[in-house]
Amino acid sequence: MSAKKQKKANIAVLISGGGTNLQAILDAEKSGALHSGSVKLVISNRKGAYGLERAKAAGVKAVAVTKKDCGSQEAFEAELIRRLDEAKTDLIVLAGWLAILSENFTRHFEHRIINIHPALIPSFCGEGFYGLKVHEAALEKGVKVSGATVHYVNEIPDGGEIIAQKAVRVYPGDTPEKLQLRIMKQAEWKLLPKAAEDICAKIVAGDHPGFQEVR
Ligand code: GRF
Repeated sequence: MSAKKQKKANIAVLISGGGTNLQAILDAEKSGALHSGSVKLVISNRKGAYGLERAKAAGVKAVAVTKKDCGSQEAFEAELIRRLDEAKTDLIVLAGWLAILSENFTRHFEHRIINIHPALIPSFCGEGFYGLKVHEAALEKGVKVSGATVHYVNEIPDGGEIIAQKAVRVYPGDTPEKLQLRIMKQAEWKLLPKAAEDICAKIVAGDHPGFQEVR
């Protein structure tokens, strides 16, 4: 008799800001597009992040865990791990998360952390490429196409295995803000919920590399 299969995977979403990608995941769960996993916890590394309000409005447990309150990077990560393990987290989604996570953290959740990056990796990624800076660099380079990438997270910034990508046109006269919004609407908010569903379906089926056994 195989171990009782989980019905749904437990998702935790880590945020630092507005939480529009978190909202896309919450909306997908509400619509049923995301049905193999459920958001059980939202953690922000910034107390005022509006994404915390989005979580609360959806009835999801939302907490701020700050490095300042914890006192050191090690204590910060230990508190993150404690809360994530307490919530029996199967999949961690970094959605606009801007805090450093060490190899110790990423190894604790090997192959169970995904991130959305607002460019087509390997373009405009790595150290220092986040938020509007990504789009400023793309416009500076004069690319005609940009987009978004969902990838697994390891100790290298934006260095993990690519899971999904979606290209988005760049138009003459685009500002970083206009390009950012187009990429969010046409790529990020579509890719991330779908990647979460696909991975959670594998977790529930017991055939995801991050899981030796189904809890
Ligand atoms: C945005 O720059 C987005 O492209 C990137 O993180 C930033 C904030 O996203 N993924 P969100 O609105 O907090 O999800």
